[in-house]
Amino acid sequence: MEFISRPVKIFTLPKIDSSQAKYLQLAETIRAAIKQGQLKAGDPLPSVTSLSQDLRLNRHTIMKSFAELVAEGWVESIQRVGYKVVANLPIENSRRPVVRNQTDSPTPIGYRLVRAGMPLPTYPANNFEYNFSGGQADVSLFPFDEFKKCMSEFLSRPKIAQLSYGESAGTPELLEQVEIYLRKSRAITNREIVITNGSQEALFIVAQLLLKSGDKVAVDALGYPPAMSAFRSAGAELVAVNQDAHGMCPVDLESQISKGDVRLIYLTPLHQYPTTITLTVSRRMAIYQLAAQHQIPIVEDDYDHEFHYRCQPLAPMATQDPKQLVIYISTFSKIMFPGARIGIMAVTKELAKAITEYRLLICHKSNVLMQSALAKWMENGGFERHLRRTTRLNLQRRDHAIAVLKNYPCFEFVIPDGGMALWVRLTNNPNPSSRVSSAEQLAKKCQLVGVYVQHERQFQLHTQFNGDNFIRLGFAGMSEKKFAAGIKLLVECLQSSH
Ligand SMILES: Cc1ncc(COP(=O)(O)O)c(C=O)c1O
Repeated sequence: MEFISRPVKIFTLPKIDSSQAKYLQLAETIRAAIKQGQLKAGDPLPSVTSLSQDLRLNRHTIMKSFAELVAEGWVESIQRVGYKVVANLPIENSRRPVVRNQTDSPTPIGYRLVRAGMPLPTYPANNFEYNFSGGQADVSLFPFDEFKKCMSEFLSRPKIAQLSYGESAGTPELLEQVEIYLRKSRAITNREIVITNGSQEALFIVAQLLLKSGDKVAVDALGYPPAMSAFRSAGAELVAVNQDAHGMCPVDLESQISKGDVRLIYLTPLHQYPTTITLTVSRRMAIYQLAAQHQIPIVEDDYDHEFHYRCQPLAPMATQDPKQLVIYISTFSKIMFPGARIGIMAVTKELAKAITEYRLLICHKSNVLMQSALAKWMENGGFERHLRRTTRLNLQRRDHAIAVLKNYPCFEFVIPDGGMALWVRLTNNPNPSSRVSSAEQLAKKCQLVGVYVQHERQFQLHTQFNGDNFIRLGFAGMSEKKFAAGIKLLVECLQSSH
């Protein structure tokens, strides 16, 4: 016999044994449930009425059983609430694993973690009053009410087939909207689109599909650590290519390729991460030619294409890709928020097939509710409105950040054409007795006063690289007032003697 308590808990009453009173058998079942941790301290017992219906037992029998448990101290009766498992159980059992016999060990199994200890991507902390981590969108600007309508529209008329498996590349509505968006805003056409759980999943899948142990990936010497982690997770070795004021140096790339085994090149060409430099057209062409000559695919991570201010952004490398070398990746994390987990890949048919098949192994598809709401939002123009507003605001915030930083002689920087952050060099500290002599030291000290800032060493491929002068200051994620107040605190940390 089975009864269901609310909230859902299922117990079975052993076969009614006529040699023992029914109320005692029920008490024993509930006691056992408490001992095994099925019912925890504070959990409500089912009502007398529902139990009596479920078990087809007399109400009086149930009441008598509860009274027995109350008397023993397992259960308490609370006026107008009902019966609950007592907060302090007579034995401390429900939180512990059950030891059923002598040979069972309460010590948890020591798993053989064959993939443990992989280099994990680290993400900036969110719990600082002033968070300068570059590249964060200001979530307070997101039109939640507008987006809620798109969500509830889908929920009112869900497409039942989409609620199941399948459509691993993305829901048709979102694929259509993204296809239009990429065509109009970036001139990307004739590619298969795949929606992923953010760019990170895209990077991980590319690494798993194209790399094996011993392969090399060419990356900028200062780069995006989560991408590095994804490539390393496939067993690849990363090789650092020198970069200068125009981006990755093709001459150094060529020299790295000539050493052999470079199987992938990773670039953030529009706004190099973390330096914000735009890779020049001539460099792009030189890198592309090298890649074509050696048959090496290029991952183009175009993570903040929308935010370019000086002029139209350079078209992605994926738009001039006669050899179909470029694996194009982008994200909605900067336009919406990272928790939306919507990334985009625009790739060849062959690669799209391999990616969608691989997704069947790991997640099948991205969240349908989010995809469908986003498609609606894009279709009804809300997305474009939000983009126009945030681009305008981000430009204003960039200009304001520049004006604030110019008040302090300890900062030196090149004004970026776009992006959401400034790459700032710390120069002559006016206080010679200041304890801070590096960007890393500054970042550590800042954290003590609620300021989070990323420093150069966090982006270095190898810890033995010795540059430690730059910080990355995100300006898009907070109001102008907050930016100015945070910089004031940061400068105090830089200049104070303690
Ligand atoms: C270089 C780069 N790529 C990708 C992303 C976005 O990652 P995701 O889409 O996984 O949130 C970011 C965000 O910080 C980034 O800086």
